[in-house]
Amino acid sequence: MACPANRSFCELIGALATVLDIEEGRKLYHAWRVAVVAEKLAQMLVPEERTAIFYAGLLHDLGAMGLDDHLVHRALIPGHENDREVREHPDKGSKLVALLPGVGAAAAPLIRDHHEYWDGSGYPQGKKGPEIPLGAQIITISDFFDLYLRHLPGNSWDKIAQKMQKEVNKKYSADLSQALSEVMAHGLFEQVADDAELEKAMDETMGTVPAPEFNEKDPMSKTIRLFAQIIDAKHAYTGGHSQRVAAFAVSLGKELGLEPAELQRLEAAALLHDFGKIAVPRAILDKPGPLNDVEMARVREHPGYTQMLLQKITSLKDLAPIAALHHERYDGRGYPKGLKNGQIPLGARIIAVADALDAMTSARPYQPRRTLVEAYRVLQKEAGKQFDPEVVDAARTLLA
Ligand SMILES: [Fe+2]
Ligand SMILES: [Fe+2]
Ligand SMILES: [Fe+2]
Ligand SMILES: [Fe+2]
Repeated sequence: MACPANRSFCELIGALATVLDIEEGRKLYHAWRVAVVAEKLAQMLVPEERTAIFYAGLLHDLGAMGLDDHLVHRALIPGHENDREVREHPDKGSKLVALLPGVGAAAAPLIRDHHEYWDGSGYPQGKKGPEIPLGAQIITISDFFDLYLRHLPGNSWDKIAQKMQKEVNKKYSADLSQALSEVMAHGLFEQVADDAELEKAMDETMGTVPAPEFNEKDPMSKTIRLFAQIIDAKHAYTGGHSQRVAAFAVSLGKELGLEPAELQRLEAAALLHDFGKIAVPRAILDKPGPLNDVEMARVREHPGYTQMLLQKITSLKDLAPIAALHHERYDGRGYPKGLKNGQIPLGARIIAVADALDAMTSARPYQPRRTLVEAYRVLQKEAGKQFDPEVVDAARTLLA
């Protein structure tokens, strides 16, 4: 079975890779480029591992999420691998990816070893030569290709190949370097060197890479739950936030008489409502004091990213407005659109209340933790202003 049947799974992982690579509002496309190049090499060298290698390419730097600086900016600086967080990212990422349905078990070991180098100078284990799985070696050389391309923008493949030659038998094997030259010379370079072309190449790869074999009936909902954990892991003090918001939202939805299918959609939207926060620097999210205007503007970008990401996922498209409008206010003074009461979808009005409830009842550095009863009183004060009064009414059921 080819990927279109599992298009949404591909798209969801592709969206995570996109948001991990957003910096200062710009898409860096590091993970996408690594994935497309690695998949081409896999087709040539280990076709039976294409799927695992493609997904490992997309998520290889997941464990670096939250570093102050994207890895592409420090990876070619000698000594960068001595930073503890850098050394830990292969292991961290591999542990999270292992939980993914379908591809997790095969992709995780490749991610763990994507900084093991041919001469044994890599990390975390210092594996050497053929001890390193070929799939991991493929991610490594694809990773280096993207780094050199960034350092030599606008250059031809020949120029980049010359630079990459210096690391042969150190970072990667001569055979693999030869294989990379072959795929690049056969048109891959033009497909991946430019961001717009890369978008097309990614679309094509998503359509042709063999689908993972899923054991579970509903791999999307398992993946969405894992995403909620990943989103919350970005933030020091929001562990479990997305899960709790989803649980509150479902209780409120039930009280408001939503049908089971609507409740399911509401739950998925609530699990993903802060997806866009992955693009907000951790230093801002974790700042203990009040945010300045620039920082506040960055935080306020997150619903827009959530919208952009969900819109790209075929089976989750219709969740985008529910998930992404959770900071709109009933009185029209919210963001990003300043919509009013009935203009805001009911699901988003429910998530707004669920989000506020969790924020008030969790410990945060800038405010005392409230009990549910205290939080409910705040909701009542804000009914008709920040929140939909009917949803606030429904929240009474949570006190029982
Ligand atoms: Fe890495
Ligand atoms: Fe990387
Ligand atoms: Fe939010
Ligand atoms: Fe939230």
